[in-house]
Amino acid sequence: MQNYDIYSGKSETTGISRVIDSIMIIFKKAKDINTYLLKQQEAGSRIGFVPTMGALHPGHISLIQTSGKHNTLSVCSIFVNPAQFNDLKDFDNYPTTIEKDINELEKAGCAVLFLPAVTEIYPAGTENAEKYDLGYIETVLEGKFRPGHFQGVCLVVDRLLTIIKAHELYLGQKDYQQCIVIKKLTELKNIPVHINICPTLREADGLAMSSRNLRLTAANRKQALKIFETLTFIKNNLNPGDLKILKQTAAQKLVDAGFKVDYIEIALAADLTVIDTWDGITATVAVAAAFCGEVRLIDNLLLNS
Ligand code: PAJ
Repeated sequence: MQNYDIYSGKSETTGISRVIDSIMIIFKKAKDINTYLLKQQEAGSRIGFVPTMGALHPGHISLIQTSGKHNTLSVCSIFVNPAQFNDLKDFDNYPTTIEKDINELEKAGCAVLFLPAVTEIYPAGTENAEKYDLGYIETVLEGKFRPGHFQGVCLVVDRLLTIIKAHELYLGQKDYQQCIVIKKLTELKNIPVHINICPTLREADGLAMSSRNLRLTAANRKQALKIFETLTFIKNNLNPGDLKILKQTAAQKLVDAGFKVDYIEIALAADLTVIDTWDGITATVAVAAAFCGEVRLIDNLLLNS
């Protein structure tokens, strides 16, 4: 598959065409995809874009499908962005399943895949990269535990949206804080793209689908479910007033289940302000990050919206 820039659904080994509804074009060069999409846009195409880091699962594919319902052309990018990994081991261990990803994207009706090399995204490196004034959102939760992470996310999304001038951007609620950060980025840089936050897809038992789940051992896979159970516990026990005991109980549940907890918090859904008391009205979200063995998992649940 490496040799293909345009993937026509033909098997590389047999040359036999499979019956397919459409072809997916793969671009590796920023200039080429940019030119192609501008032409499509001039011809009246409405472009939906789903940025990913690959190792695709049904959660990612659901974003492509949603884009397909509302746009004439869906674009996916697969790029494991070195700039957003504060932990080098995490970057090195990030799973890649590119052949499978290409098949799944094609089946889901993705029209264009952008598969760039690092030099294509960061031709001048990242040493002197732009800094984004994200404010409070970068100081809490993921921002606090993964310093620099959201700067790296902004850097790549900014660059991707410069190359892929999409009308609609599809993001997963699974990374709720990332959605708020990217919204802020589009405001800071006046990027004219509409952001769609799509529901988190879960396994049958409730575990949020994640590329990192591939790295869970069988024992850890069972344990991992406790994150969703604990967020659900918060949702079921949320009452107006003081939240400290509820948060402490939730954290203890994760510790008892064997997690190393980074945080389990309740925050305002609008801007992720962490709260200790609730007025009984304002929309809130429960958010958690914890290590399940070696694997750091995050999840969240909207509580009252
Ligand atoms: P990645 O983790 O590959 O996720 C790509 C998109 O899929 C994100 O918008 C994410 O929130 C969404 N997603 C992940 N799991 C999901 C699930 N279970 N249900 C629904 N959507 C889900 O997030 C990133 O990549 C990167 O930070 C990126 C935005 C591509 C920038 O590098």
